[in-house]
Amino acid sequence: MSFGKTLSLNSGVSIPQIGLGTWLSKPHEVENAVEIAVKNGYRHLDLAMVYRNQDEVGRVLKKVIPSVVQRSDLFITSKLWNSSHQPINVEKELDETLRQLGIEYLDLYLIHWPVAFRPGKGLFPPGKEGEVELDLFTSLVDTWKAMTLLPKTGKVRAVGVSNFTAEHIKAIVAATGVTPAVNQVEAHPLLPQDDLVAYCKEAGVHITAYSPLGNNLVGKPKLTDYPEVQAIASQLGASTAQVLVAWGVYRGYSVIPKSVQEERIISNFKQVELSKEDYETISALGHNNYTRFNIPYNYNPRWDINIFGEPEEKGASNPVRIQ
Ligand SMILES: NC(=O)c1ccc[n+]([C@@H]2O[C@H](COP(=O)([O-])OP(=O)(O)OC[C@H]3O[C@@H](n4cnc5c(N)ncnc54)[C@H](OP(=O)(O)O)[C@@H]3O)[C@@H](O)[C@H]2O)c1
Repeated sequence: MSFGKTLSLNSGVSIPQIGLGTWLSKPHEVENAVEIAVKNGYRHLDLAMVYRNQDEVGRVLKKVIPSVVQRSDLFITSKLWNSSHQPINVEKELDETLRQLGIEYLDLYLIHWPVAFRPGKGLFPPGKEGEVELDLFTSLVDTWKAMTLLPKTGKVRAVGVSNFTAEHIKAIVAATGVTPAVNQVEAHPLLPQDDLVAYCKEAGVHITAYSPLGNNLVGKPKLTDYPEVQAIASQLGASTAQVLVAWGVYRGYSVIPKSVQEERIISNFKQVELSKEDYETISALGHNNYTRFNIPYNYNPRWDINIFGEPEEKGASNPVRIQ
């Protein structure tokens, strides 16, 4: 069985290039999905406290370790949720994640968003009508300082960030001298993130692409349904999802497609190679169709904060608190 290619992080740890996403994978579904994935060669699992399914993932980890894999064969990522950004809460939430998963350490722990929520009132503290209550006092630098202490505890092998812009990364590195190992961001042909990818390459920050298939939350045609993607897929005798995963692989980063369906989980992991021409055809899909799907200012409940500087975030009252 092939376990796929691995890439190196700046901490010296290797990350398997294709991983399994678990956002919106329901309990039971997620147990099944992780078991199928691990039995079919996946070694990289992308998890988070806010996905509210880590207990179930923990159950399946008990089942597959050590009967199918050793713990050390897996690369397990989880993420610190926004309501635990306050430095005293950072290690506490990590401990809770490890308890849910029933493991001793994570391979990678990320700050999920550059946004702090008020602590102690659940994952989405209710604020003004239709909004979550932000914590406008805790800065990214405060949280990152607490994150940088974690590798010494032995509970994480590397720390990083998610949904950070180049400006956010520059600021936390300038304040601490510690470069995140990874920035996990939305990236697909409609949001290639060229500038951020180039900056991260230069700075030694590995990119993991989330929503590589373009995610399904909005009523737009799915990337897997685009005729250009379908044409290349049929030429290669591949699925459209394989073509989209290959597009990310071509760009040199790691990619974490989510599925809860057996056939898709298995085929998404089987790599196909794109020619330069195919790569360019897929890249062209984004030229007049720039789309960022994950904008928390549009979420329900709304996060009243401008993270990315997108036109859709113009009405937000708060900037990210960096320092
Ligand atoms: N850091 C962050 O803030 C953040 C944000 C979003 C996502 N993520 C991570 O990235 C992972 C992937 O992103 P995502 O879940 O947003 O989107 P995605 O992986 O791009 O797309 C998932 C959707 O595509 C469907 N799908 C999967 N394989 C397919 C195939 N072969 N053909 C057609 N459709 C297919 C899935 O349905 P089925 O399950 O029914 O197959 C699901 O509806 C997440 O699960 C999560 O782990 C992180």
